[in-house]
Amino acid sequence: MEQQLVKVVSKGLNGCLSVPGDKSISHRAVMFGSIAKGRTEVTGFLTGEDCLSTIKCMEKLGVTIEQDGDKVSIEGAGFDGLKEPTGVLDVGNSGTTIRLISGILSSLPFSSVLVGDDSIAKRPMARVTGPLKMMNATIDGREHGQYTPLFIRGGHLNGVNFVSPIASAQVKSSILLAGLRAKGKTTVTEPHRSRDHTERMLKAFGVDVEVNGLSVSIQGGQELEGANIPIPGDISSAAFMLVAGAMVPNSEITLTNVGVNPTRTGILDVLIEMGADLVVADEKLFGQEPVATLTIKTSQLKGITIGGEIIPRLIDEIPAIAVLATQAEGTTIIKDAEELKVKETNRIDTMVNQLKQLGANIEATEDGMKITGPTPLKGGTMQSYGDHRIGMAMALCGLISKEKVYVKDTEAIAVSYPSFFKDLEKLME
Ligand code: S3P
Repeated sequence: MEQQLVKVVSKGLNGCLSVPGDKSISHRAVMFGSIAKGRTEVTGFLTGEDCLSTIKCMEKLGVTIEQDGDKVSIEGAGFDGLKEPTGVLDVGNSGTTIRLISGILSSLPFSSVLVGDDSIAKRPMARVTGPLKMMNATIDGREHGQYTPLFIRGGHLNGVNFVSPIASAQVKSSILLAGLRAKGKTTVTEPHRSRDHTERMLKAFGVDVEVNGLSVSIQGGQELEGANIPIPGDISSAAFMLVAGAMVPNSEITLTNVGVNPTRTGILDVLIEMGADLVVADEKLFGQEPVATLTIKTSQLKGITIGGEIIPRLIDEIPAIAVLATQAEGTTIIKDAEELKVKETNRIDTMVNQLKQLGANIEATEDGMKITGPTPLKGGTMQSYGDHRIGMAMALCGLISKEKVYVKDTEAIAVSYPSFFKDLEKLME
C-alpha cells in the first residue's frame, strides 16, 4: 500500500499547469468510437485507471484500439462488429464504465458478464438495470440485478420514456446508448440537469439528439460515424488545485484548457460565492466542449449553503469543497447530496470522519454535511479508502496542517489524476 507524506507548503503554490484529460469525456470517446463505423482519433485522453478499464472492455468486445499516451485511435466496426467476449469484462473501479457499457450490451445479441473491484460490488446498479430491463434486455446479478457481477443478454429493445428519480449522467447515458438501437424513440427526463457530455459527443458522431428542458430523446436505428474528439482538461481534477490555491497562503495558480461545460462548473460558482479570487478567461470551444483558463489566488473565504440544482454540477468536487470549507469563515452547509453515499466510498462518512480527526468542526447530516470554520488542521495518518477523490482531498489537508499528514493507499488517485503529486510538487518549486 502506497503511503505519501504531504508537505506543509511554506512559500505558497505558484505556477501554471494543464490538468489531465476529462474522465467522463475520455470514457465516452472510447465507447462511442467503438460503436461507430470508421476511425475515431482521440487526443487529450485521460490515461487514468478507470479509462484504461474502458479500453480493455471494448477490446474484449473485439474492437481494435491503439493507445499512445494521451492519443487513442479506434477502428470502429459499428454495433454489429462487436463480438461476444470470451471472458468477463472487468471494469475495475469504474462506475461510468459499467453503467454505460450496460446500455451498449443490452442491444447486442450475445451474453456478457461484468465484474469490478470491491467498491463496484457495493454500488447500486438497479438504477440502470431497471430501465434497461424495461426496454427488454435480459439482465441479472446479485440481488436480482442490483449488484455485480452483472449478466447481460442483449436483444431487440423497445424505446422507453423513462423519468429518472435521480439526476445521473450515467443513468441517462446508459439508457440513451440502449435507445440508439431500440424500436422507436427513447426519452430520459431528470429532476435536475446532469452532465451532458453524451448529448454533445453523440452529435459529433452524427447522431440526432433532441434536448427539451430536462428531457433528452433519441430516435432508435441511428448509426454513429467515426469522429475526431479532442478532450479538455478535467474540471474535477482542476478543482483540487483550485482549492489548494485558494487556501494556501501566498499562492497563485493558473490552469489552462480546463473544461467549463456549464453542467460541470458548480465548483466555480461555489468558489466565487465563497469569495475566492478566481478569474475565468479565454473561454472558447474545444471540439464540442467549452474550455477556459482559470487563475486562482489565496483568498479570504466565507461559508455558504450549497444544495438543489447545483449538486449534480459539482457532485465529484464535494470532497475538495469540504476541505475548503474548514478554512472559510462561518458555516458551510452541503445538502441534497445523498448521492455522495453511493460513490466510490460513502463520501459523507469518509470525509466527515477524517476531517474530524484532523480537528475540523464538521458534522454529517442526512443528505450532506455541515462545516464551521476557520479551524487550523492538525496532522495525522489519513486514508483514501480506495477512493481517488478522498485520497486527493486528504492530501490537500497536508498542505495547510500544523503537523504532518500522511495519506495511505494513494495508488487509488491514479483512477483520475495519475500526476497529482507530481503536479503539486511543480507548484511548490
Ligand atoms: C459521471 C457521472 C457522475 C459522476 C461520475 C462520472 C459520468 O455520476 O459522479 O464521477 O461520467 O457520467 P452520476 O451520473 O451517477 O451522478
